Order: sequence, then structure tokens, then C-alpha cells
Amino acid sequence: MKISSLLFGMLACALSATASAQQPIVIKFSHVVAQNTPKGKAADFFAQKAAELTQGKVKVEVYPNSTLYKDKEEMEALQLGAVHMLAPSLAKFGPLGVKEFEVFDLPYIFDGYDKLHTVTNGDVGKQLLAKLEPKGIRGLAYWDNGFKSFSANTPIKTPADLKGKKLRIQSSKVLEEQIRALGALPQMMAFSEVYQALQTGVVDGTENPISNLYTQKMHEVQKHLTLTDHGYLGYAVIVNKKFWDGLPSDVKKQLEDAMVQATRYANQIAKVENDESLEAVKKSGKTTIYTPTKEERAAFVKALTPVHQKMEGRIGKETIQAVYKATGFVPAK
Ligand code: LMR
Repeated sequence: MKISSLLFGMLACALSATASAQQPIVIKFSHVVAQNTPKGKAADFFAQKAAELTQGKVKVEVYPNSTLYKDKEEMEALQLGAVHMLAPSLAKFGPLGVKEFEVFDLPYIFDGYDKLHTVTNGDVGKQLLAKLEPKGIRGLAYWDNGFKSFSANTPIKTPADLKGKKLRIQSSKVLEEQIRALGALPQMMAFSEVYQALQTGVVDGTENPISNLYTQKMHEVQKHLTLTDHGYLGYAVIVNKKFWDGLPSDVKKQLEDAMVQATRYANQIAKVENDESLEAVKKSGKTTIYTPTKEERAAFVKALTPVHQKMEGRIGKETIQAVYKATGFVPAK
């Protein structure tokens, strides 16, 4: 009796050892946007590549659309290790204490994706990611989304049209200042709450790349969209450092390769996705799309670029100068 129960115990142990040897390492990847967006598609692509390259040793579970965590919660969950991987917007690192990331929010600082890439693919990009380490976070890559446009229920041609409007922004002090520079009222709010806030009139308008606007159906509750392209929105893909450092080195290498491929994919599709979303918004007929004239655009540039200097104390003059140097941006005198 004794022997048989001992044998049974040993067998059970052996079986569970085999089972655990076959259990994949699970990486929970949470994000706040829809699946059919540049970030949503890139996250799914990464999950697929990770499974392929590790031959099933890693299973990346992607939770889109704030189904697992909202903006602020996801950062806290990452630090606690409750979730392993995120790709928050670069405008959401201020509350973590890494204010330098808000350099990406400065209006008109990047004249297109190529200029932006001189920063994200260069030394400045690396140095910024390194600032996450003391927070227990490892930065793996930058993924593009695109350039933001303003929307509201009233027409927007010049900055004066936004005066006094309540505009939703992400959690960035630079964006707060940007909205104030327009004489409007910034309202920080989690991405998951924006649609309802627009629908109920809690806010009058917002700014986002068109892919976010369209996939959250914001165009159904915003009558006017003006293609201002006044600022960039992109992502840092980040992991819990302790979790990442604890991965077997061969697995880590395979995941790094998967990330390189996912990053290439993300940055290839970002513009296309935004262009297609714009077409879809047009087709819906629910929103009037307006392209500012040269003069109207100049008025936005004039109203918004003083934010660069105003935010020097927050972001750090060196970081702003380093970005100017990488992109060739020359501030107006
Ligand atoms: C937003 O909150 O508007 C964006 O950061 C959402 C996102 O992740 O693209």
C-alpha cells in the first residue's frame, strides 16, 4: 500500500514535470487601441513571430482595446509584473517620471516619418529608452503610428476656432501646454473613455492620428476633422525588466529577433493604415474633412511652436537640442 502510493506520487511528479517542461512561457501584452490599427496589428504580428521563432516555447497573449488595463493602470501593472509587455504612446511616460519622452509631443517638431526616424533609430532614441531602466522597465523598440489632427463638432480652420473648447489629451504636460497655447482647455483622459466623452459632450474635441479616430468610431461623434498634422503619436514597446532579464538567453535572442521584424512591419504599415482610415472616414460621410490652407497652417505653426521653449524646463534643453540636431529642425526666431 505504502509502496504503491509512493509509486503513484512519483508518477504524478514525473507527469507534472513533463507537463511543465512543455508549458510555454506566457507573455501578456496589453494595449489600449483596436486590433485593426498600426499598434494592434504589430502586436499580433509580434505574437505570431514569437511563437514561430521560439518554436512554441513562448506564447504572447495580446489584450487589445483596454480589455485588460486602461492607460494608467497598465503602466502600474507592468511595474508590478502583472502584465509583461506594453506599447504605450510616447506621451504617456511623464506620470512615470520620465518627462524627457514628452519631447515627442512638441508641436511640428517632426516634419514627417523620416525625420522622426532619425531620432528613434539614433542615439537620442537609445538614450531615452535607457532612462526607463531605473523604473524597472526595459525599452525594446519604437513603433510608429502617425501625425495627429484636430477634430470637434464645430469647423476648425485656424487656432481661433478652438478657443475655449474642451479638448481631450493624453497624459502629457507638453500636450497640456499645446492646448493652452490655442486658448483651449486641456482635459486629460484615458483613451478608453474618449468616445463616450465626445458623445456626451464632456469634451468638445480631441487630437489623434486618423487610425485611432476611425477605429474608435470617434468620427461618428465629431462633425469636423481638420488635417493639421500638428504633432506625432508613436509608441515605445516596453517590458518588465526583471521578467525580461530572467528569460533563458536563447529565448530572449529569438524574441529580440521577433521584435526587430515586428518593428519593421509596424513602421511599414503605419502610414498606409492612417491613409486607409482617412479614406474610410471620408466614405462614411459622417465627418467633414478639411485641409487647412497654407496661411491657416502657418497660423497653427505660429500659435504652437512657442510651446518648445516654454517646455524646456520640463523636457530638458539638452534633449530638445539633441532632437533638433538629429532632425535638422530650426526653431523660428
Ligand atoms: C491616446 O490615448 O490617444 C493614444 O495614446 C492611444 C494609443 O495608444 O494610440
